[in-house]
Order: sequence, then structure tokens, then C-alpha cells
Amino acid sequence: MIECRRISKKFGAFQALGNVSFNIPSKKCYGFLGQNGAGKTTVLRMLVGLLRPDQGEIFVAGHSLLNERQQVQRLCGYLPQRPEFYPWLSGEEFLRLSAELVGVPARQAKKIAGKYLDTVGLADFSRRRVGKYSGGMQQRLGLAAALIGDPPVLLLDEPVSALDPQGRDSMFSLLKKLKQEKTIFLSSHILHDIEQVCDGVVIIHKGQIKAQGTMPELLKERDESIVRAQVHFEVDGGLINRLQAEFSGTLQGIGIPVSNVAWQEQGLEQLFYKVVRQAEEEVEQEHHQHQNSSTGQGGAGDGNMAR
Ligand SMILES: Nc1ncnc2c1ncn2[C@@H]1O[C@H](COP(=O)(O)OP(=O)(O)OP(=O)(O)O)[C@@H](O)[C@H]1O
Ligand SMILES: [Mg+2]
Repeated sequence: MIECRRISKKFGAFQALGNVSFNIPSKKCYGFLGQNGAGKTTVLRMLVGLLRPDQGEIFVAGHSLLNERQQVQRLCGYLPQRPEFYPWLSGEEFLRLSAELVGVPARQAKKIAGKYLDTVGLADFSRRRVGKYSGGMQQRLGLAAALIGDPPVLLLDEPVSALDPQGRDSMFSLLKKLKQEKTIFLSSHILHDIEQVCDGVVIIHKGQIKAQGTMPELLKERDESIVRAQVHFEVDGGLINRLQAEFSGTLQGIGIPVSNVAWQEQGLEQLFYKVVRQAEEEVEQEHHQHQNSSTGQGGAGDGNMAR
């Protein structure tokens, strides 16, 4: 579906990309991995025609970017690494404008804008000016803009870098849904998330493609037949010493050397979720108490109101 053939790019004397070739199959989600400065953004900008390669060809759904630029651009929704907005527009106004730009008739644009604000969790902020959005809210709005024409290809440059943990989770659930009908190519440094959602990866290093394919393909290529076993269970802290001895002893008894047994306390992620959930519950409780007192159901509230 997305095909890059021997793309090269120099910025002045600096060779940013050298003979970059890869293929992303239709209706799959592929992660684009590489260190800072490896060339991910440069490639993604080329795929949407914002930057010209010095050499090489790009095809999207069989259309040549060089010869059929408009068709290719119509097929692709793009979220830049640092999206830019008119700060004086509200989120809804921005999306209405984006919808009209991709050909949605003006009378439907409001409805479509509302739909995508909801998809990215911004429905409560539709009237706030974009200049006053937080970084994560701007990233969500950028994703909504990328989705708005319902394009079959999504090119997302670090879509979760500014999102809070819940935002990341909902972004990845959304991507899982979207990949049933779209081809998605996204760069990210969050390998755990990539592993959860992507069918395969392309790895770039200093402007050169070093690996591409699904995880089983890549492991087979490298003959990586050793797997790391992880067993998860919860246990009383007082039993750890006994378990450790039993565990290592049993495995060593059948000829499997144990390199490490790690006991994990509750992680930051769980802790963070718990604190946020508790805070949300407190707000909800306060809200209920406030409602009760203003409808005259709460005893203390009645007293306050009488004064
Ligand atoms: N317009 C430009 N002019 C000069 N050099 C550039 C330009 N754009 C990118 N580069 C250089 O090309 C290389 C690749 O940059 P790119 O932004 O593609 O990296 P990246 O893989 O997206 O990194 P990151 O993970 O930090 O976003 C970097 O060395 C960068 O400095
Ligand atoms: Mg980048």
C-alpha cells in the first residue's frame, strides 16, 4: 500500500536518507522506529509530499507521488510531529475548516467536526481557543484533523508523545479499531505501545533502513529462537524467599538455568492510575454532595443555606 523505493535526501552536505526502501502492506499498522535524528520525520514528510526526495520513488495505493501528487495527498491523513494551528480558532472551528478543506459540504462540517472531537476526547473543549489548548489537547486535535476525511492511509508522526497515560491507552485502542480498515504508519519511541498495536515495524538508523517486517519475520531472519519467559502472579511478600528457592531449584532440576528472578512491586503506572481514579471519585462524590445540598436533601447543606 505504501512503497518507498530507494529514497535519498541530502540537507546541504548532510546525507539525511540513503537508499531508503520499504513496503507497508494494506490494512496493517506498522511502527516506524529509530533514534532521534534517524530520519523518521523526513520520510513521513516525503510521503505526504511536503519534502521532495533527491532520488527515488514513492507509491501510495499504486499512485506515484511524483506524478499524481494530489491523488496521493487525498489518500493520506497526516499528523505532523509538531502540529501547528491558528491559535484564535476554537477546536470546533479548526475542524470545521479542516473538513471543508477535504471537501465536506459546509452544512455537514459542523456535525463531522463534532464527531471527531468526540473520537479524540475533546468534546468538552470544542469552544476553547486552540492557542489555549494544552500540548496533549493539540496533539489530539491534530489526530482528529488527520482522521477527518476518513482517508484510507494514516501517517502519524509520534502521535502519543504529548499524551497522558490514559490518552495513550485510548489512542492505541482507537488505532486498533482503525487498522481494521486503514493502513497506518506511525513513528514512536514508546516500544511497549508499538508492540501492542503494530503488526510490524520499519527500523531506521542514521538514514538507512536496518529492518522491516513483522516480529515473527524479524526474529526468524535473525534466528532468534530463544524466548524470555515471564510468569505473572501475586504473592504475599513474606513468601518471596521460599518461592525464589523453589522456583530456581525446580527449573535447574530440569536443566534450565535461571538467570534472574525479579519481584516487582506495584508499578508507577498502576499507582498513577489509582491516584487519578481516586481523585475522579472524590470529585464525583463532591458533585453529588453539592447536588444533594442544593436540592435540600443534605442536613449540613440546609444549615449553610439558611445562613
Ligand atoms: N530542513 C532540514 N535542514 C537540515 N537538516 C535537517 C532538516 N530536517 C531534518 N534535518 C536533519 O535530518 C536528520 C533527520 O531528522 P528527522 O527529523 O527526520 O529525525 P527523526 O528520526 O524524526 O528524529 P526525532 O525522533 O527526534 O523526531 C537530523 O539529523 C536532522 O537534523
Ligand atoms: Mg521526528
